[in-house]
Amino acid sequence: MSLKEKLEALKVSTSEEIASVNNLKELNEIRVNTLGKKGPITAALRGMKDLSPEERPVVGAFANEIRDELTEKIEARKAELEIQTMNESLASESIDVTLPGKQVRSGSRHILTQTREEIEDIFLGMGYQVVEGFEVESDHYNFERMNLPKNHPARDMQDTFYISDEILLRTHTSPVQARTMEKHDFSKGGLRMISPGKVFRRDTDDATHSHQFHQIEGLVVDKNITMGDLKGTLEVLIKKMFGEERSIRLRPSYFPFTEPSVEVDVSCFKCGGKGCNVCKYTGWIEVLGAGMVHPDVLRMSGIDPEIYSGFAFGLGQERIAMLRYGINDIRNFYQNDLRFLNQFKVSSVKGE
Ligand code: PHE
Repeated sequence: MSLKEKLEALKVSTSEEIASVNNLKELNEIRVNTLGKKGPITAALRGMKDLSPEERPVVGAFANEIRDELTEKIEARKAELEIQTMNESLASESIDVTLPGKQVRSGSRHILTQTREEIEDIFLGMGYQVVEGFEVESDHYNFERMNLPKNHPARDMQDTFYISDEILLRTHTSPVQARTMEKHDFSKGGLRMISPGKVFRRDTDDATHSHQFHQIEGLVVDKNITMGDLKGTLEVLIKKMFGEERSIRLRPSYFPFTEPSVEVDVSCFKCGGKGCNVCKYTGWIEVLGAGMVHPDVLRMSGIDPEIYSGFAFGLGQERIAMLRYGINDIRNFYQNDLRFLNQFKVSSVKGE
């Protein structure tokens, strides 16, 4: 076969290969094998030295022509294959924009947190400060300063977890009263504070008891504070929490740190006071304890009870939420069952 015939045959076979190749990688291999330095065309051009001077330019021109032709075919096929690849990836990556979107699961504030913030807002609006106390407290502040000396029988109702004889988990938020009173500068005016937080008792957990729960303490100390101020303040709180049509009733009670002491009842929000299963047919539901700060409690905090008087109250956040939403088992608050929590879901951004 003459050189020209060889080149002609190469052109035919390579053109067929180019036409039938189906991916860019193989096409590139063809290009390298045919047109590359070690390929047949380069070899043919090198072999021209054996030709006669007349044949050389003719064969040379022919070889160049074939190289150009094949290069062109490769480029054309390359463009085709590139479009084909793009179409394939477009097809495999396409999305159906009419499908429903994936739901993003968002969290929300716990119902006890919502309750606390609502109550805080009511009191902030009346000029109270919010004070944080210690969950690990001393016997001194938790009991002694609240007028519960050692061996006082009222300590029985508030047994707790002891860290040492003197250090314990607080049984109520009342110690924050003493801690705040002794620091307050009365020359700048009276004291109005609430203090929310966790409290602990040696109780066996059941539907209405928990060894750990939440209270909000309230305390006002100033000149001329009377029981009328206490009643008026609690009326604002109860109406905001349970509805404007509610009324409250104060019943005599006993706490060592208040004198007189009262239990505060709200008129039943289910039956309006007629009597039903929620209010146990009394028309009233007990919501919190309160009273006028005992003179000895003021005195122990360095306040002269002849000049100053005050009122205090303590409420259970769980109790308020249970009454408001008809929750019948306190353990629901702590089990983190989404079926429970989601019933109280609100936007986590305040004010939205
Ligand atoms: N500390 C009391 C309790 O936990 C509640 C209370 C607070 C009562 C303030 C009166 C005044 O039971």
